[in-house]
Amino acid sequence: MYFIGIDIGTSSVKIIVIDENGVIINSVNRSYEILYPKALWVEQRPEDWWKETHEGLKEVLKDLDRNKVKSISLSGQMHGLVTLDKNNNIIRPAILWNDQRTEKQCKYLNEDIGREKISKWTGNMAMTGLTAPKLLWMRENELENFNKIEKILLPKDYIAYKLSGVYATDYSDASGTLYFDVKNKVWSKEMMEILSINENQLPILYDTIDVIGEIREELAKDLGISKNTKIVIGGGDQAVAAIGGGIVNENECSISLGTSGVVFSNSEKFVVDEYNRLHSFCNGNGSYHVMGVTLAAAASLKWWVENINKSLDFNFLLEETEDASIDEEVYFLPYLTGERTPHNDPNAKGVFIGMDITTKRADMTKAVIEGVGFSLRQTYDIVTDMGIEIKEVTINGGGSKSKVWCQIMANILNTRVKKVNSNDGPAYGAAIIAGVGSGDFESISKACELFIKETEVFLPDEAQAKRYNEKYQKYIEIYPSLKKLFIS
Ligand code: XUL
Repeated sequence: MYFIGIDIGTSSVKIIVIDENGVIINSVNRSYEILYPKALWVEQRPEDWWKETHEGLKEVLKDLDRNKVKSISLSGQMHGLVTLDKNNNIIRPAILWNDQRTEKQCKYLNEDIGREKISKWTGNMAMTGLTAPKLLWMRENELENFNKIEKILLPKDYIAYKLSGVYATDYSDASGTLYFDVKNKVWSKEMMEILSINENQLPILYDTIDVIGEIREELAKDLGISKNTKIVIGGGDQAVAAIGGGIVNENECSISLGTSGVVFSNSEKFVVDEYNRLHSFCNGNGSYHVMGVTLAAAASLKWWVENINKSLDFNFLLEETEDASIDEEVYFLPYLTGERTPHNDPNAKGVFIGMDITTKRADMTKAVIEGVGFSLRQTYDIVTDMGIEIKEVTINGGGSKSKVWCQIMANILNTRVKKVNSNDGPAYGAAIIAGVGSGDFESISKACELFIKETEVFLPDEAQAKRYNEKYQKYIEIYPSLKKLFIS
């Protein structure tokens, strides 16, 4: 039997086929364009997601026994605004999670309506990344387009619709819209009213593991798979990546060093930070999680390597940092695309501070990865301050390929950091969800227990952890001192 997981990422779609033992049988990756029509704007064409997913499905199945396909599930970049008209045509390009155009709309929601009220209705506060401010922006700036909206979907939900013909979403992804009442798992009436939308425009809400229908008959024919193939809705990429990395039990925590950096921690209870610095969302396993996002994690290192040190490669620059002393007082704020957690400041900027005439390139490279680490520690500290106890952290994402960075994370967090055998996070998690949804795997936790194993451990070094703790105390002073200079 085969189960297919599709992850609609920001740079590409990844499709994975696994068998009943969780073994990856085949996978493909197909990229699409990111549009930057203006400063702060980030968009994509949903038609491109579908084109590459459709082609990718054909490619991944080409040499496989297609009769074995039982179910397909999804993961997707969260918060993106996809709007359809009455003929199911895309109205305008999707506005993505890292788009920063909605500062004014967020101010209106947090200050004029009031953060406390928004938090009471949704469990969260307005941030530029979330979907609700994007809808307000559309109403204020593209009224003609806004008036055409028949359906409002999230990125993976558009692909679920193309696969099944059903308008559906799940609790984990709906959590990132800011028009969803996370605690009670229903659309928020108050927020719908503020946004001038109604429930008919929104997809039906499901649990992450629910079957929403079967594959459209003509698509099944085209792909050569059974017309009884089940479509399981899946979830937002962070909740699904947690499943793909085996983070499924109470108080388990993961840190992802992807384009963005994410601290993710499960919690049986619905908990909200008193200042709403973290997201309080549903997870894919029926309960809740808290999460914070630093927007440029691996993206900061990519910038430093590719834009600044143009001719040198990643590995060389990272290895060189082993000669840089921890006692150098060079600091880097990784706010190259503004910052979400904990500052919620789209105007925040990247900063190097503390160089002197003896500073070497290696000191600055090290400052970049330490800066991302300190930024993640700020979120990690909020999680633990909320009373969530964390014993170890599972690390994943592109940056976790560097042992140097993993060890620095263990030292900065002063916590045991581990890696697991599954590196395909969201796509693998979606394939597991497909198998649970079709009833072939007993449960998400059971499948994770069977398929996901620890492969590498990084223990904190006592002296370095102490030194990093001192440096962290300085790091957290830098943003408040410079904040007023960032206002554009
Ligand atoms: C999560 C978030 C990103 C996107 C893209 O809140 O904004 O992680 O889901 O991966």
